[in-house]
Amino acid sequence: MQFFANIAAAAVLAASLVSATNTVTFLNQDETNRTIVFTASYGQPAVENVKVAGNDQIKVEIPNGWQGNWYSIDAGAPATPGMLGEVAFNGWNDLTYFDVSAIVNNTDLNGVKTIYPASQLNTTSKVAMSGCENMAGCTNMYILSDDIQTVSTKETDLVCTLGGGNKLSTTVTQRDEPVLFARKFVLGKL
Ligand SMILES: *[C@@H]1O[C@H](CO)[C@@H](O)[C@H](O)[C@H]1NC(C)=O
Ligand SMILES: *[C@@H]1O[C@H](CO)[C@@H](O)[C@H](O)[C@H]1NC(C)=O
Ligand SMILES: *[C@@H]1O[C@H](CO)[C@@H](O)[C@H](O)[C@H]1NC(C)=O
Repeated sequence: MQFFANIAAAAVLAASLVSATNTVTFLNQDETNRTIVFTASYGQPAVENVKVAGNDQIKVEIPNGWQGNWYSIDAGAPATPGMLGEVAFNGWNDLTYFDVSAIVNNTDLNGVKTIYPASQLNTTSKVAMSGCENMAGCTNMYILSDDIQTVSTKETDLVCTLGGGNKLSTTVTQRDEPVLFARKFVLGKL
């Protein structure tokens, strides 16, 4: 029985590795070279860390159903966890859940900034968005674990903005009344 359970688990893992239909595009908004460090939730496949050059972008494929988080480290800086991007792809009701969280490190004000579905790249008003381009006083994100700040989308391609100082980006002006969920949705604990 255990043998078959292992086979089944291996098959699920193999399937999740080949069907990497999810993506996160990291937009690096200043001259700082950065490394994105991914942390998979327990039982999830690892996603390799990637480097994104200053004022550049990189699109990272994420396995089907993946849950975990990421933060960015400035080139040359100590590898400390920072502001987190958290995601549960292809979750409950086939929605993808995401948020920006300051719970682990609320002093990282120039790493992960915002996350939103890729279709909203050029829209000035983003309906489904977490985080802020100006982190000072940002309330569109997790500050306390019992906040209700998890955003959902039917899309499986996300954008995560990084850096850029505390200037408001010209493309991100506000968040329109999104439907928000509790944190258990992004943590996969239903
Ligand atoms: C970023 O990395 C490139 C390539 O290694 C290097 O030429 C450049 O000077 C770096 N930029 C900064 C701001 O450190
Ligand atoms: C939080 O992030 C900032 C910026 O990356 C870093 O300087 C600081 O050491 C981090 N704090 C902790 C407790 O890891
Ligand atoms: C955003 O605008 C750029 C430049 O005009 C365009 O190439 C891209 O397809 C647009 N993306 C979306 C999702 O609308």
